[in-house]
Amino acid sequence: MDEQFNADVLIEALPYLRRFSGKIIVIKYGGAAMINEGVRQSVIQDLILMQQVGMRPVLVHGGGPEIDRMLKKLNKESLFVEGLRYTDDETMEIVQMVLAGKVNKDLVELFSRMGGKAVGLCGSDGGLFMANRFRKNGQDLGLVGDIQSVNTELLRTLLDNGIIPVVASIALRNDEEGGFYNVNADTAAGALAIALKAEKLILLTDVPGVMEDKSDLETLIREMDVQMAKSLIKRGVIKAGMIPKVEGCLQALAKGVSAAHIVDGRSPHSLLVELFTDTGMGTMIR
Ligand code: ARG
Repeated sequence: MDEQFNADVLIEALPYLRRFSGKIIVIKYGGAAMINEGVRQSVIQDLILMQQVGMRPVLVHGGGPEIDRMLKKLNKESLFVEGLRYTDDETMEIVQMVLAGKVNKDLVELFSRMGGKAVGLCGSDGGLFMANRFRKNGQDLGLVGDIQSVNTELLRTLLDNGIIPVVASIALRNDEEGGFYNVNADTAAGALAIALKAEKLILLTDVPGVMEDKSDLETLIREMDVQMAKSLIKRGVIKAGMIPKVEGCLQALAKGVSAAHIVDGRSPHSLLVELFTDTGMGTMIR
């Protein structure tokens, strides 16, 4: 790498550094992209860099693989309803321990090791997420919630003090019984981006972005508008697990978030490339 190249990269970043300064960026991280320690470090470094240049990043995480691993370790049998795990009381207890206890604190530890300042919380801290019971096409999935309200007060205090909030995707139950609901991390990130009036919502996934043909990187769609995203869903080009992600992005865009990005969280420093170059590396919807 020669010096001129390095200088060009920095100059290309200049307008974005200026434009995103002071702006809140909500990043969702989870799934397979979170398993590898090296990759995890690069994601955390990207967030620290974003913060150092004046942006206000917020990290929202799930932890599916770690929850599965713990359920297996504890020999916990799960009931599946149409392919989705039914979250009973015992499962919810494990989800709470793994997400808010283990995964969340491991991420915060990594921030501190990499020289950043982060605070880990979950949906109950400061009344961040309140949820009602979620029903998928009328199906009861147990203790799974649908976020009804977001209280951003605590997060704003953290952001104002130069601290990166790390949020585990569980919510308070909005009823007399109390306790917790498990909430989908993509949805939680979307709800948070809307409530914080974020500039961007970025979903770090384990695919390069939205592709016409999943097996062909050449068909990656780098940019689309809301119209195009809707028609790709209708035509069946966007399918399966990508549908709720794109729909979450569309909802955030409809409610004032300027851009939503679906980026490969497995590829090192994909966040920086997406944010600070003209072409980015994933799919941008706006
Ligand atoms: N860095 C710019 C931004 O974050 C452009 C990103 C373009 N990305 C893409 N996938 N087309 O707004």
